[in-house]
Parts: sequence; C-alpha cells; structure tokens
Amino acid sequence: MTNQPTLPANPVFAALDTPDLEQALAWAEVLRGQVGGVKAGLEFFSANGADGVRRIVDLGLPLFLDLKFHDIPNTVAGAVRAVADLGAAIVNVHAAGGPAMLEAAREAAEVAGGANRPLVIAVTVLTSMDDSDLTAVGQATPAGEQVVRLAQLAEAQGLDGVVCSPAEITAIRAACGPDFKLIVPGIRPEWAATGDQKRITTPRQARDDGADVLVIGRPITGAEDPAAAAARIAGELGIKP
Ligand code: C5P
Repeated sequence: MTNQPTLPANPVFAALDTPDLEQALAWAEVLRGQVGGVKAGLEFFSANGADGVRRIVDLGLPLFLDLKFHDIPNTVAGAVRAVADLGAAIVNVHAAGGPAMLEAAREAAEVAGGANRPLVIAVTVLTSMDDSDLTAVGQATPAGEQVVRLAQLAEAQGLDGVVCSPAEITAIRAACGPDFKLIVPGIRPEWAATGDQKRITTPRQARDDGADVLVIGRPITGAEDPAAAAARIAGELGIKP
C-alpha cells in the first residue's frame, strides 16, 4: 500500500477495554510516554461514539480503532472515511469481506487520510473460532490454512497487515512480505496473570518472532500501577523512555 505510515518505536498498544469514557481517558493519560499507542474497540465505541474517539485522539496517543468492519464495499469505504477523519492511526476490517471490500477500504483510507492515512489492517479468522465453528458456517478449510489464505488476500489487495495470534506470526511472516504489519494480542509478560487467554507469548518473544504491534490489555490496565506495568514491559523490550 502506498505511503505506509510509520509505527511508533514502542510497539505496545494498550487495550482500553471499557465502555467508561472517563476510565479510558484516565488510562490513556497515565500511559502516555510508556506505550506506543492505545486500542479502543466496539465496547468503547458503542458507548461513547465519535465524540469519545475524538477525546482519546486529542490526548495525542496513536489510536487503534478496533471496529472490524464487514459490510458491502460502499458501506465499508464510508465507515473507513469516517474513522480516518476522526484521526485513528490504525483501523481494521474483516478479510472475509472479500477482495472488493478490502480494496474499497484501502482506497477510502488513502483518499480520506492523505499523508496521515491510517494503517488498514485485516482480521483473518477470529481466535474464538475453531475448526468445528468454521465447518458450522460452511468453511471447511482448517483455521491455520484459512488464516494464511486471508492474510495473502489482504496483502494482494494492498492492505498494510493483519491482526494475528502469537502462534500465527511465523506462518504469516513466511507467506507475506517483510513490510506486512503483524498486530498481535494474546501477550502476557511472565509476571502477569494469564486470564482467559490460552495461546499466549511474552512481549519479547512476540517481538523476536516478528510482531510489529503488541496489543496488551489487562497486564497493564489491571495492574495496581498501569504506568509502571507499561514501563516494565517497555524495559523488557529494550525501549528507552
Ligand atoms: O487483556 P488482554 O491483554 O487479554 O486484551 C487483549 C485485547 O486484544 C482485547 O482488547 C481483546 O479483545 C483483543 N483481542 C484478543 N484476541 C484476538 C483479537 C483481539 O485478545 N484474537
């Protein structure tokens, strides 16, 4: 994709998983300087809308707006234009929306964002779906193969990268080019609780495997001192404050 925006030196994006605007703003405020950016998703957006997004963007941290658009190409293009106008640094769409939808998303980001366009990232197979869930929706290909197929489709349509699990990094990196961005949740420092995440890796390992962005939520936001937790992770990654 043309004029690929650069990512912050600190690859950690803290997941602000809350519908509470004041809580999200408080986290973003204390984490400034200790993380590369923040992520807000459907829960936050459904509760706080575009105004809530503007409040976070106004704090000056790059925002990954994780809304996973999946609709007809014209509608997705309109949605991407709207969130590009809000100043999101990263937006995402479902690769399963197909080639025309992916191309429409890419074009919309380029036109709306210009030099400041957001990275447009694809979601492949949700990690909540296993092979039997895929079969239930008429998709017989095993999840591992489908992930790589959809990543290659996204790359072919000019998208900037995909969201993937730690276990998928190596296969996607081998199948797609070196500039294709891999955004990876399911990260747990050794000192943090696992919670409901199953296939996890440490920040350092994910980075060494080739992840470009590490999405980390509860190990930071659930810590007694979120800024200290984020600083500890940055230290483990060798990032200077
Ligand atoms: O708290 P935790 O670090 O588990 O948060 C991870 C974040 O990444 C959450 O916002 C979660 O929704 C998101 N995510 C994930 N696994 C995926 C895709 C997104 O954990 N496969």
